[in-house]
Amino acid sequence: MVTYCYINKLKLHNFRNYLSFELDSGGSSVVIAGNNGTGKTNILEAISLLAKSNGMKKAKTTEMQNKFANEDWVVHYNFFNGVEFNSIGIAKGYNKKLVQIDNKMQLSYLSLYKISNVIWFIPQMDHILIKSPSERLKFLDRIASMFENNYTSAYMKYRKAKYERSKLLRDGILDKLWLSSLENIMATMAIDIFHMRSSVLSLIQNVINTAVSFPKANLKITSQLNSDDTVKYYQNLLAKNREKDLLTGRVSFGVHNDNFQVFCQKRNIPINLCSTGEQKLLLLSIILSSVKARCIYYNKAPILLLDDIMSHLDEQHRKLLLEEIIHIKCQTWITDVDQDNFCHYRDFFKFFDL
Ligand SMILES: Nc1ncnc2c1ncn2[C@@H]1O[C@H](COP(=O)(O)OP(=O)(O)OP(=O)(O)O)[C@@H](O)[C@H]1O
Ligand SMILES: [Mg+2]
Repeated sequence: MVTYCYINKLKLHNFRNYLSFELDSGGSSVVIAGNNGTGKTNILEAISLLAKSNGMKKAKTTEMQNKFANEDWVVHYNFFNGVEFNSIGIAKGYNKKLVQIDNKMQLSYLSLYKISNVIWFIPQMDHILIKSPSERLKFLDRIASMFENNYTSAYMKYRKAKYERSKLLRDGILDKLWLSSLENIMATMAIDIFHMRSSVLSLIQNVINTAVSFPKANLKITSQLNSDDTVKYYQNLLAKNREKDLLTGRVSFGVHNDNFQVFCQKRNIPINLCSTGEQKLLLLSIILSSVKARCIYYNKAPILLLDDIMSHLDEQHRKLLLEEIIHIKCQTWITDVDQDNFCHYRDFFKFFDL
């Protein structure tokens, strides 16, 4: 049985444009409507802090501080984790964020990731899939981390070892033992990352293929690694490439070079040849299918944040999107300048006018 997490009460104190703000969702999905600059996105940003320490806008802690308040900002969430309620507090600390769960101060942000799961679509992501390969890969990494608890830590270890190996080569410290211990970490993590990426993509593709109403995407990843490559094989390759990597200043082989591509299934054309609206629909289809895949394969629904979602969508697709959200049943927070987009769905959302 799928468990649904949700935010019941949200309180903002000195956060962005809010000095003091409180919202009670009653556990249902929420539509926040209001004119430009009234603070709709800021509310979603506060929720996104549950999933990423710098939030969906990748902002600095100081940027979130209300410019006119003297006291530090605090966000408080009354959060249902699918089994019980947690009282969660995130606050601006001296040089990092402070996290409190059920009145206990947490040593690391990671304890939050274990209980909360939030995914978002914001206007800045509109063209993410036609941007650079590294942006597309970051998007895939974000999705994969939603499924695999170990993904983020594997990726962080891989990047750290890759950085340290490059530094040793650059500084001319050709200590074989040191280099091969770093290459061993890189190889072990890379193989894990490769398998996690492939399995998450195939789960999502399965869900996309069975969807009936929403435009479908074909997801493709090409990698320098093969599914039967072993840690030893990859580690040997890294050792062999030391000289080449030193000359080029980059690591020539690895999962950081993976190429994640999206195609429109119906016409079999790459997403960059699709119209603005079609691109947005394909990206939404991947996000909604990831949420569904998480419900089907992991029995746990994340919270979904959709900022300013209706722009560029025609009436038929706005309707399809809302029906899909209602069908998925996860708590969804939507912002829009216009409540009229939701007039036929009043029973499914709680409305807040800013
Ligand atoms: N640190 C801050 N201190 C005070 N105000 C801030 C801070 N950061 C942002 N703001 C202000 O908060 C206001 C609301 O921003 P927000 O992005 O939430 O608006 P919005 O309702 O989403 O608007 P739009 O419909 O244009 O997307 C803006 O006027 C912005 O300048
Ligand atoms: Mg906004």
